Amino acid sequence: MSILELTKAGFAYGSQTVLEDVSLTIDEGESLGLVGESGAGKSTILRLLLGLAAPNSGDVRFDGAPLNLRDRALVRRFRASVQPVFQDPYSSLDPRQRVDRIVAEPLRSLKLAKGDEVRTRVAEALASVNLDAGTLTRYPHEFSGGQRQRIAIARAIVSRPRLLLADEPVSALDVTTRVQVIDLLASLRREQGLALVMVSHDLGAVAAVCDSTVVLRSGRVVESAPTRTLLTAPATEYARTLVGSVPRLPR
Ligand SMILES: Nc1ncnc2c1ncn2[C@@H]1O[C@H](COP(=O)(O)OP(=O)(O)O)[C@@H](O)[C@H]1O
Ligand SMILES: [Mg+2]
Repeated sequence: MSILELTKAGFAYGSQTVLEDVSLTIDEGESLGLVGESGAGKSTILRLLLGLAAPNSGDVRFDGAPLNLRDRALVRRFRASVQPVFQDPYSSLDPRQRVDRIVAEPLRSLKLAKGDEVRTRVAEALASVNLDAGTLTRYPHEFSGGQRQRIAIARAIVSRPRLLLADEPVSALDVTTRVQVIDLLASLRREQGLALVMVSHDLGAVAAVCDSTVVLRSGRVVESAPTRTLLTAPATEYARTLVGSVPRLPR
C-alpha cells in the first residue's frame, strides 16, 4: 500500500519548466533516495509531496486518493502522517522558543494531544533521537548543528508520522556529525518502521539509508533502481557520473 504517490507530475515556475512527467511511489516503511545535480528539481518534488505546492499537471495521491488541499480533515491527517526535515537546523528552529515548545508544535497545531500527554510524547520523541530530558528547557542556540538536527527530527516524529521527507538533512553539518544523523535516520526506519524520502547529493549517505533511489536530471527521472544496483551497475551514463563522484562506497 502506498503512502504517497506522484503521478506524471509537471511543474513550472512561470515559463520555466522545472519538473516533467515525474512519477514515484513511496510505500509503507520504504526508503527512497532522491539524487541529481543542483537545480534538477529535487526540492520541488519534496514541496509537491508535502502539499506546499500543487503540480501543474499530474497529481499527488495520499493513501491512494488525490491530496485535496481544500479538504481540511484530510490535510490534518496528512500533516500528522507526513512530516518534513529541512536542510538547515540553524534556520528551521525558532530561536525564541524553548526546545519543549519547538518539539511539541505539531501536537498543538494539529490538536493531537494536550496537557500531560504533550509532555510525555515530547519526552519520548527526544529519547528517540538520543537527547536527554535536560534538553527540554533550553534554547536552540545552546546546541551544536548535529544536536539541532536531532531536535528537528524529534519535532518531525512527535506526531508519530508514517513518512519523513528530508531535504539534504545533513549537508549543513560537519562530516563527523553527518554520520551520526544518518545513523539516526537509519535506526528510526528500522525501529519505528518509518518510511523516508531523503534528498541528498551524497550518494554514500543515500546508500546508508535508502533501499531504492531515483535519479533526477533537469526535472525528469532518468533512472529508478535499488540503491545497490544503482551503485554497482548504473544503467545510464548520467548515473554513472554521479556514482563515479562518490568518494567511498558504503559498508
Ligand atoms: N521559488 C522559485 N522561483 C523560481 N524558480 C525556482 C524557485 N525555486 C526553485 N526554482 C528553480 O527550479 C529549479 C529546480 O530547483 P530545485 O527544486 O530547488 O532543485 P534542487 O533541489 O534539485 O537543487 C531550479 O532551476 C531553480 O532555479
Ligand atoms: Mg534542493
